[in-house]
Amino acid sequence: MKKIQIINGPNLNLLGRREPGVYGSQPFEDFLDSLRARYADVQIDYFQSNIEGELIDRIHATGFDSDGIILNAGAYTHTSIALQDAIRAVPAPVVEVHISNVHAREAFRHVSLIACACRGVVCGFGLDSYRLALEGLLGG
Ligand code: DQA
Repeated sequence: MKKIQIINGPNLNLLGRREPGVYGSQPFEDFLDSLRARYADVQIDYFQSNIEGELIDRIHATGFDSDGIILNAGAYTHTSIALQDAIRAVPAPVVEVHISNVHAREAFRHVSLIACACRGVVCGFGLDSYRLALEGLLGG
């Protein structure tokens, strides 16, 4: 059974309530239930933290024995060289994911400090971005 780790960064614990016009109104746990039901043959583990170091620890803890990591680093995407280094440090392929189309938003969101270390990037498809990233990992 393939093992995929989803990691969500800061403020994504508020999905469903946070800026619903941008991020939608579905809590992530509900979406995760439907994703697990649709991909019942895949072990999908989930972790969320608002703390940069905890995201790094989770990449270290799962990046040596999973088949891939789907990472929405939230605003740390635009600031964190430490996350880029953590992604480079593990063999598992990492896909950078965003719910919104960051390139259609403020200029500071157009820059990703982690994309260069990732296998690929998916953004702009709402929560379906995570499923598309999963398809990419399972296909590759
Ligand atoms: C986000 C986009 C980021 O710019 C923002 O800071 C987030 C969410 C997204 O999923 O669209 O927290 O990663």
